[in-house]
Amino acid sequence: MVDTNYLIIGSGVAGLTFAIKIADRFPNKKVTIVTKSNADESNTKYAQGGIAIVTDETQDSYQKHIEDTLICGDGLCDSDVVKMVITEGPKRLNELIEWGAKFDTITKGNFDLGKEGGHSENRVVHHKDQTGYEIERAILEQVNQKANITVLDYHFALDLIAANKQCFGAYVLNQKTKEIITFLSDYTLLATGGIGHIYGHTTNPVIATGDGIAMAFRAKATIEDMEFIQFHPTALHEDSISSKFLISEAVRGFGAHLRTKNANRFMLDYDERAELASRDIVSQSIDLELKKSGDDCVYLDCTHLDLAAFVKHFPMIYDRCKKNGIDIARDWIPVIPAQHYLCGGIVVDKNGKTDIKNLFACGECSRTGLHGANRLASNSLLEALVYADKIYNYLAEVSFENKLEYSSISEWDLALKAIVKPEYLATFKSKFQLLMRQNAGIVRYDTDLLKAKEQLVQWQIELEIICKNYQITTELFELLNMITVGNLIVQQSIERKENRGGFVKYEYSNKI
Ligand code: FAD
Ligand code: SIN
Repeated sequence: MVDTNYLIIGSGVAGLTFAIKIADRFPNKKVTIVTKSNADESNTKYAQGGIAIVTDETQDSYQKHIEDTLICGDGLCDSDVVKMVITEGPKRLNELIEWGAKFDTITKGNFDLGKEGGHSENRVVHHKDQTGYEIERAILEQVNQKANITVLDYHFALDLIAANKQCFGAYVLNQKTKEIITFLSDYTLLATGGIGHIYGHTTNPVIATGDGIAMAFRAKATIEDMEFIQFHPTALHEDSISSKFLISEAVRGFGAHLRTKNANRFMLDYDERAELASRDIVSQSIDLELKKSGDDCVYLDCTHLDLAAFVKHFPMIYDRCKKNGIDIARDWIPVIPAQHYLCGGIVVDKNGKTDIKNLFACGECSRTGLHGANRLASNSLLEALVYADKIYNYLAEVSFENKLEYSSISEWDLALKAIVKPEYLATFKSKFQLLMRQNAGIVRYDTDLLKAKEQLVQWQIELEIICKNYQITTELFELLNMITVGNLIVQQSIERKENRGGFVKYEYSNKI
């Protein structure tokens, strides 16, 4: 057994910023970060557009950002949370800058502010089209300088050690030695990010398998709003079903137009904001256009834009298109909606506390009430930064008298067992992802959801039996977690009665 004061599961923006703060505040306490891949591998690293923050109150206002967030969330945001998160933006941005993150400016001290769907003003602070990469670089560098933080990469958290709604730490698989370590911690933070690979067709990297949500569910934490899956309208269309390269919404903010293959600028028919309507509206409109035409994709037309300025703002996107044989000065970029973000997750209060004692959640795996039925673009990094700070402030005040007694914690049973064949798991995963794409996508139908539920319940039982009888591996547990989260998405989609924001459900008789 290994003792630590703070166990952080995940090394994206949520986990790392909390780690930096708590390690500084308590230099004599042990902070341990476990993460299942390279330390920098995360959704954070791939964030392109930037962070939505009101930086210039002569051009913009908190009130406008609050209203944009509430409109986007379609009546389901918690307005106190929205106000709290948005008004704290500038402080959290200054911290990132102090930690060494660099953001694009026009003149000294004046940020080059991008625009994205649903925003009434230019307010997205960014580092070219690689904002997440820059943030992850800077905060990981800070973490690596702290003597009381240990980062354990290739360590996969299997399950929380929890009983009677209390959390004592987690069981963690060292993916290199195959050892399962029992971490006992005073406080545990789930910062495990998104769920994209439940769909396969996603902008998320392969680490996004919903592990934290599944672990919290098994520990009986409350999980809500799982039906609110955000599909990004413009992932680069390629033949494979796997992680998709994102064409940032900031490209539409820069003036790009969406067209069908016949050059119709169709978004004008759906919303007066056209390409800059909120993400749910643009994705649903593309979905409808593709169903009408039978085409595989729509196109993003950048041919009328200033090429030199485009390359300066979006060097990574420009290069990636070029690699795919797309010359953006002449060719349209083929794009298609793909799963991008989960608005729901583990329910937390304004201090990031779950309803399990001493268990906290932060970032994309949490459900704070900020996003409601649909997240406003670039509000996610902001949410993670603000809540990491909230959890830090809360834990800086509580003393260790909260420490729980761990009387009878057993080690994970390490009896030698057979390994499930990788091909079996790969086929199982593909079947599951297809079921999610077909039955729980942008537009859902009641009968499809009910059928999917029946299948998922069976698969869940099958996987649980396999987990008991075979050797535990990352791939096996990821699949179990994905099916658990898939079940939650489908169940909560069945339960939701009205269509809101990113959630659209019809009766089967209306199926196109
Ligand atoms: P992540 O950054 O995903 O980190 C999760 C961490 O948990 C990873 O280190 C992972 O390896 C680890 N982990 C997961 N499960 C386990 C386990 N079982 N054991 C151990 N470790 C585990 N948002 C914006 O606000 N602005 C943007 O411009 C923007 N652009 C985006 C572009 C792309 C392509 C994508 C995919 C997302 C974008 N988002 C953007 C969303 C935003 O990046 C994420 O929501 C945010 O970074 C999530 O941060 P996080 O710390 O919660 O999770
Ligand atoms: C993008 O750059 O389009 C992604 C922004 C986000 O997900 O907030």
